[in-house]
Amino acid sequence: MVQPRRPSVRTSGNVLALPKASWDSRFLRACRCESTDRTPVWLMRQAGRYMAHYRGLRANLSFLDLCRNPGACAEAALYARDWLGVDASIVFSDILVVLEALGVPLRFEGDGPKLTPLADAAAVGRLRDPLVAAGDLGYVAEAVRLTVAGSPADIPCIGFAGAPFTLAAYAIEGGGSRNFARAKRFMYSEPEAWHRLCATIAQCSAAHVNRQIAAGAAAVQFFDSWAGCLAREDYREYVLPHLTAAVQAVTPGVPVIVFGAGTGHLLDLFAQTGAEVVGVDTGPDLVEAWDALGHGVAVQGNLDPTLLLGTEAVLHRRIDGLLKRVAGRPGHIANLGHGIIKETPPEMARELVRRIHEKSAA
Ligand code: CP3
Repeated sequence: MVQPRRPSVRTSGNVLALPKASWDSRFLRACRCESTDRTPVWLMRQAGRYMAHYRGLRANLSFLDLCRNPGACAEAALYARDWLGVDASIVFSDILVVLEALGVPLRFEGDGPKLTPLADAAAVGRLRDPLVAAGDLGYVAEAVRLTVAGSPADIPCIGFAGAPFTLAAYAIEGGGSRNFARAKRFMYSEPEAWHRLCATIAQCSAAHVNRQIAAGAAAVQFFDSWAGCLAREDYREYVLPHLTAAVQAVTPGVPVIVFGAGTGHLLDLFAQTGAEVVGVDTGPDLVEAWDALGHGVAVQGNLDPTLLLGTEAVLHRRIDGLLKRVAGRPGHIANLGHGIIKETPPEMARELVRRIHEKSAA
């Protein structure tokens, strides 16, 4: 079933009254499938541990203290944006702050995030009100405001939130997982509580991104990072209505990007939510995936993050080949197929950006 479209970003105009340079920026033009002078590019996790500057910020702050410090968040986001020369900044934060605000205790330890797992339906019933929870995340909106204030006018800031499946899976598993056994058992055997959990997360994440938009974010991305572990039918039945509700609740006129790793089999469902931009991970052929989606939607992503560990010659070959096949079709946002990894030499990330700009210049 095709979902109702959001009021089109192409016809609803500059409803946010963004400065002209921002509205006409490469990144926002590409989100609207308009032509650009060069292919816009940004990198998921562009501010992170692969950068010495970020490690310097982290030397005095735990990861969560950094996330709760808007000035330090803006510093991390702006430095990465400037140094790489990318066409957008992304607010520095984490998808898991929404779960913490909903009342799921969160901490970061050596190998990643740890949450106190939601054990049963009763635990779902004890979550906090989603709109009240979103109201507690004002420090993220403040980080957006400072990031926008510190950016050139033609560099939009992307806001983000976690999508319902990925956050529900984190809440039930209490952390990352190889096969999501607990989350899937819960989903199949407690469908009512599952749907209540996803609806709560969708409301909180949508309110959270709308607050970021009010603070100056010009586009938003929903990360459904772990959605790829679900079969199509399960995604359609257990998840899609909630992701759709979140996308449809985003402030009209603001482009929405939906992304997940390993989701080549779900891309048309992402597009059905009404999102203007579909994130394509490294698996599918970008041009084939785009042809299948139709050209009314923009696409983002696809370059393998591990290309940045190899030689410049291979990186150039992959970039040049991709740009040649896309052939300047409007609506292409270059990015990696997943977040940049911490082993990445920063110079290679900067070279990727430089090469994309150089080779895509008209
Ligand atoms: O420039 C940016 O994109 C930074 C903003 C950002 C972070 N996390 C910072 C971060 C964004 C957009 C995220 C999203 C996020 N967080 C996702 C979705 C994206 C994806 O990769 O699929 C997920 C699944 C998380 C949850 C999370 N946060 C994990 C699993 C981890 C630990 C593992 C890891 O790769 O580090 C984090 C921590 C985290 N989030 C770091 C950063 C920079 C590293 C923390 C540190 O300094 O030690």
